[in-house]
Amino acid sequence: MQNLRLLKKQAQKEIEKVRDLKELDGFFRKYLGKKGEVTQILSKIKILKKEKRVKAGKEANLLKNFIKQRIEMKKTHLINVSAKDPEVIDITVPGKRFPTGHLHPLTQIQRKVEEIFQSMGFSVVDGPHIETEWYNFDALNIPKDHPARDAWNTLWLKNSKLLLRTHTSPVQIRYMEKNNPPLRIIVPGRVFRREATDVSHEVNFYQIEGLMVGKNISVANFKAIIQGFFQKFFQKDVSIRMRTSYFPFTEPSFEIDMSCLNCQGKRCSVCSQSGWLEMIGAGMVHPNVLKASGLNPKNWQGFAFGMSLDRLAMMKYKINDIRLLYSGDLRFLNQF
Ligand code: PHE
Repeated sequence: MQNLRLLKKQAQKEIEKVRDLKELDGFFRKYLGKKGEVTQILSKIKILKKEKRVKAGKEANLLKNFIKQRIEMKKTHLINVSAKDPEVIDITVPGKRFPTGHLHPLTQIQRKVEEIFQSMGFSVVDGPHIETEWYNFDALNIPKDHPARDAWNTLWLKNSKLLLRTHTSPVQIRYMEKNNPPLRIIVPGRVFRREATDVSHEVNFYQIEGLMVGKNISVANFKAIIQGFFQKFFQKDVSIRMRTSYFPFTEPSFEIDMSCLNCQGKRCSVCSQSGWLEMIGAGMVHPNVLKASGLNPKNWQGFAFGMSLDRLAMMKYKINDIRLLYSGDLRFLNQF
């Protein structure tokens, strides 16, 4: 039994020196492995006579358990140390690259547009997606049963008089109710229409509304601002043309077309084979709209316009299908 005591001392000393899990495994094999020292002692004890066997067996098993316990303790210790110790981190292993996203092309365009208009003194204003009939139609001089309502394929909310705004124009009223002219604002935001989708139509898209009201604001001011905007946005001379049009909330009304950058005016599916793209609906704010906002049309006048952010994006990046913008397809999005 002298043997066992010596062995215990030896094992105790040796395990102190164990530095890593590999060495610990060697230690285990040396003592408790198939041919380990303790294992061998135990098998020898089996053939002893009964009185000796019981006593020696007990002591050998105590030693075995002692070593087992020390191995467990050492193992926990080694694992803890390696987790904390910076020395064991292999700094030559290449880092893991975490995929990071980026701003959606429409957001990028929106920010660019905001920046340009802000440089011309416009403030950026927001409004609700869910609107009342009053703000979306009546206050904009589109009374109930007026055929002009048909032009906005409206999505009505079930069992209510509320709707998903069909344009950003309601924010004209909301803003003028609370702020006195002179004023210059743009309203970027999401709008909704009940449309059959195709390359240039979606059930939701983004618009930018513009409104400038003062004492003497005229069509000339509008033209200068829009020309300046296109110049800065596309960073090249783009041809635009102005056509008379009709909107209930402007008088006179006009539309601004831009030569299709997708086909350089040669006619393609993006411009419905016309070479021109309708970019902006605009006009001088109708007196009834000023009245509905609580302003006296005798004192104030101005222009308003609305354009599609999606079209701007499609022109700038030569995207030929609006639906791609809402597809969430990374093969598309990663190009921006
Ligand atoms: N709200 C109109 C539309 O959605 C665009 C527009 C805005 C026209 C302001 C004139 C003035 O079609």
